[in-house]
Amino acid sequence: MHTLAGKIEETLRDLVLGAAAMPAASENLSPAETESLLRTILYPVEAGGKRIRPLLTCLVAQACGNQPDHPAILRCAAALEFVHTYSLVHDDLPCMDNDDFRRGKPTAHKVFGEANALLAGDALLTHAFYAISSSAGAGLSADAALRCVEILARTSGVFGMIAGQWKDLAQTKSAQPSGWHTLRGIHNLKTGALLGAASSIGVVAGLALRGCFLDSQDVRTAVGLAEKLGVTTGLAFQIVDDILDVTQSSATLGKTAGKDASQEKLTAVSLLGIDGAQTEAERLTQDALLTLEQLDFRIKVCLNSGRPTADIATDWSPVKSLIENLLSRNS
Ligand code: IPE
Ligand code: IPE
Ligand code: MG
Ligand code: MG
Ligand code: MG
Repeated sequence: MHTLAGKIEETLRDLVLGAAAMPAASENLSPAETESLLRTILYPVEAGGKRIRPLLTCLVAQACGNQPDHPAILRCAAALEFVHTYSLVHDDLPCMDNDDFRRGKPTAHKVFGEANALLAGDALLTHAFYAISSSAGAGLSADAALRCVEILARTSGVFGMIAGQWKDLAQTKSAQPSGWHTLRGIHNLKTGALLGAASSIGVVAGLALRGCFLDSQDVRTAVGLAEKLGVTTGLAFQIVDDILDVTQSSATLGKTAGKDASQEKLTAVSLLGIDGAQTEAERLTQDALLTLEQLDFRIKVCLNSGRPTADIATDWSPVKSLIENLLSRNS
């Protein structure tokens, strides 16, 4: 598997299977127990998925002048996919959205039972932090790795994705009338936060690998712009997810269509209608692309030790295509 997508798959698998080599596993579990546990954890990961978040990390780091499949970048990217996959396993539980299908397969709790699905989610979340911190042994400085860990913890945690899921559930079937401001907050947190992490971790790791001084004002500005780029992209992404729930079949989506209406969720479609939601997603995508231009300028300054220059060539076209394609996706 030589493509970037293939390397991401390989890294995800190796990181999970690598856990079996830890002495705690070999000393305390039988080979059959280890195999069974790893199968439960790998199931939701290997069911597939678009891998948007790890791809974004790798492509942003590439635009900063690195190989997108640098081992440290791949570990950071895998960490984002582990957090995302855990969030889906828990999102599907009967106590949350109660979904039977995910990524074209029965959900983890349907196959392994609720308690095991809960544990598989927990394992993926904690393994994400193992993966991202291990980027320090794979070529990233300890300082840069720690900054990436901080971003992942902040955006997946209490005032990141979790806050969004909490607000989403509080709003479901709520009798309180809610508007765009409330929905924007939910979507920014439950989906935008992790995409913001994917992009800003790509910049931190990417610039660190190029020898940039991470405490400089230019790097801080670049990281802030990357986070804004990801959050705006994530908001557009979640609006499209709300639209697809209404317009696509379960077979195309790989998850049950029409769930949002049946669960009386507050969504972009319930608030703005399909056309209004599409217009908003398009507007946000244009916003994200404007931020991308500002980010490009700042990255060039960072790579040129703080001085503006026309001599440094950067290529953001893969990132731009990824963002644009999210708008026209059908799953
Ligand atoms: C689904 O995410 C949940 C949302 C945040 C909208 P994705 O649409 O990225 O799901 P996969 O990873 O491709 O399965
Ligand atoms: C989930 O949003 C966002 C997460 C943080 C997992 P949804 O509940 O809309 O995602 P789907 O439609 O089940 O994939
Ligand atoms: Mg949900
Ligand atoms: Mg859901
Ligand atoms: Mg949805």
